Amino acid sequence: MGGRSGVLLAAFGICILLMAKQVRASVCTPSSGIYHLSSQQDLDELWSDCTVINGSIDMECDTSLPANERIRELEVFSLVQEVRGYLRIRKCDDLGSLEGLQRLERIAGFKLYNEPGARQGFAMYIENNAIIGDLAGLRSLKQIQGQGKRGAARVSIKTNDNLCYMDLVGPHE
Ligand SMILES: *[C@@H]1O[C@H](CO)[C@@H](O)[C@H](O)[C@H]1NC(C)=O
Repeated sequence: MGGRSGVLLAAFGICILLMAKQVRASVCTPSSGIYHLSSQQDLDELWSDCTVINGSIDMECDTSLPANERIRELEVFSLVQEVRGYLRIRKCDDLGSLEGLQRLERIAGFKLYNEPGARQGFAMYIENNAIIGDLAGLRSLKQIQGQGKRGAARVSIKTNDNLCYMDLVGPHE
């Protein structure tokens, strides 16, 4: 046993620790089932080690706030792999991209978003965000599920005026 194997052992131990940290699922459950978020402060107050959001993320940005309090980035979600409810992002005019959601693989849609008195059953809803330029932040997203009225959950991505290529997707959801 020389100093060298001690160093190796230490390195191995650190490796195991790092792996354990990566694998550990941290389930965050919003108290009302939904994180209602309208300011950057709302985001900053969330736990940043959640890998599963056991509920929904509902972001309706407050455009009357001073510029430095509006939602600008989604880094707090950077470990999130699954949202069990729905994901909604509306009117976030200071949000340039969806980076922060880059590990999100699945929106399970156990709860869906219904527009009051209007369209029903959305698992993902990204509307009226002025400067989001692309959806590259959603690069890990593989599954969007949920049981809406017509048997599936709906996805709506519209009126994001700066989003490229949306003309190729067409005007419908
Ligand atoms: C997930 O949320 C439900 C309520 O919607 C709760 O009953 C359940 O215990 C939560 N699961 C975890 C792992 O926190």
